[in-house]
Amino acid sequence: MKTMKVIYLGVLVFLTGSVNAAAPFGGEKDVSYAKNLWQTMMDAGYAGKGGLMSRPYTGQHPHGAILDTIEGQIALNGKLHQIIVKRNYGGEGVSIANVANDPAKYLKAVTVMLKRPGYDPETQDWFWAKFKADGSLDTNPAGMMLAGKVAKGKPKGCIACHTAAPGGDMLFLHD
Ligand code: HEC
Repeated sequence: MKTMKVIYLGVLVFLTGSVNAAAPFGGEKDVSYAKNLWQTMMDAGYAGKGGLMSRPYTGQHPHGAILDTIEGQIALNGKLHQIIVKRNYGGEGVSIANVANDPAKYLKAVTVMLKRPGYDPETQDWFWAKFKADGSLDTNPAGMMLAGKVAKGKPKGCIACHTAAPGGDMLFLHD
């Protein structure tokens, strides 16, 4: 009986270990990259109070009732990267006018696509991240942090849906 238990435990550790290693997102490297990205976004005016903002517009599922999307370049670790930041607004009383007047009050999430040449050619080298309004990383229902290659297959994520964007660039913008 005792050996059975030990073997069972060993198999379990092996399985969970290999699942984590295979996860394409939410790992230590992606999380620390995302944390640095958020701080840099704050410093560069892509996030935080008084940051750059587009005209808010009515959004589409799953991104939220009202959105604002900005696009530009950001210097990260000494290199310039293309960045697209989409802010998702919601909550009681949300409207284009109210968001324009007081964006922080309605901000629910910040989704980011950052181009990292060589990161993953198969998915156009995009690094994906979803932050909460306070800048901490959001998680999926399985508790995995949404940073990195989120996610080609299961659990379904950014990539699975953005692959359907016209033009093969994974962007809905510009189409
Ligand atoms: C179920 C489909 C779906 C999923 C899942 C999804 N998106 Fe999107 N995303 C869209 C659509 C549709 C738009 C265009 C919406 C708009 O601007 O009105 C969009 C737009 C964007 C944009 C602006 C650039 C563009 O493509 O127009 C960013 C950045 C973005 N999403 C990031 C993310 C991130 C990060 C995740 C994962 C955490 C994610 N998205 C998950 C459908 C999805």
